[in-house]
Amino acid sequence: MNKPILSVTDLHKSFGPQHVLKGISLDVQAGERIAIIGGSGSGKSTFLRCINFMEMPSQGRIALDGHSLGSVKQTRAGETRVNYAERELCQVRARVGMVFQQFNLFPHMTVLENVMEGLVTVKRAAKTEAREVALSQLTKVGLSNRLDAYPSQLSGGQQQRVAIARALAMEPEIILFDEPTSSLDPELVGEVLRSIRVLADEGRTMLLVTHELGFAYHFATKVIFLADGVFHEVGTPEEVLKEPKQQKTKEFLRRFNEFAF
Ligand SMILES: Nc1ncnc2c1ncn2[C@@H]1O[C@H](COP(=O)(O)OP(=O)(O)OP(=O)(O)O)[C@@H](O)[C@H]1O
Ligand SMILES: [Mg+2]
Repeated sequence: MNKPILSVTDLHKSFGPQHVLKGISLDVQAGERIAIIGGSGSGKSTFLRCINFMEMPSQGRIALDGHSLGSVKQTRAGETRVNYAERELCQVRARVGMVFQQFNLFPHMTVLENVMEGLVTVKRAAKTEAREVALSQLTKVGLSNRLDAYPSQLSGGQQQRVAIARALAMEPEIILFDEPTSSLDPELVGEVLRSIRVLADEGRTMLLVTHELGFAYHFATKVIFLADGVFHEVGTPEEVLKEPKQQKTKEFLRRFNEFAF
């Protein structure tokens, strides 16, 4: 085994009294594609958000390329705490890209400007260079003909493809997708999944929270079922989606497939 590109160790997250993630550990090798499934409110988004520090872990460590993030401090009460410098977190967010359910594009910027924004403000790229990168990523998602449109003039599927191009433009080492198709009309789901598929074929490292179990089956190298704050079942798509061993996984899949034909 090579050194993992991402390593999560004993991650916990609480919101006040609510203990959402209860000790999650995961090693991700470069090129792995991990699909995360689980019921609503089980903590899937919270898990992804902790990985790129949009939420601060309550406990546990996250390492990129073998380097643990943050520094351990002893509190006066004798407890250990991990402190994170804002500069370090900015670097992490550039290395770990995220695509959201609700696209989160800037409404007052054009398609091209949305994709250039992070390059110019975070990576301090020159405008001409940022434009070139943005254009090539927008071409990849099939939107080179909509550069001057505003998000409100695009369909949901197009907006999500802009969001994917925006994440890619930053050249992240890992891309996190949080239910990228679940706010789309059914006929637009395919075009977004196809863009994700292209990235998969490029060998990118990705974590994808999804309810598209068919896509997860074909896309993922590993499937994780999150329940009760822990990784309840982990395995290949075949193992978890076709031959689940745990009762809870079986029930979840049965509910999902209730109306399948
Ligand atoms: N910022 C927050 N403040 C307080 N509670 C939160 C916060 N974010 C999430 N939670 C709570 O944590 C739990 C897990 O939420 P999360 O959004 O991670 O679930 P999820 O698995 O992504 O669900 P869904 O499939 O509906 O998106 C929920 O009970 C939610 O209410
Ligand atoms: Mg969620």
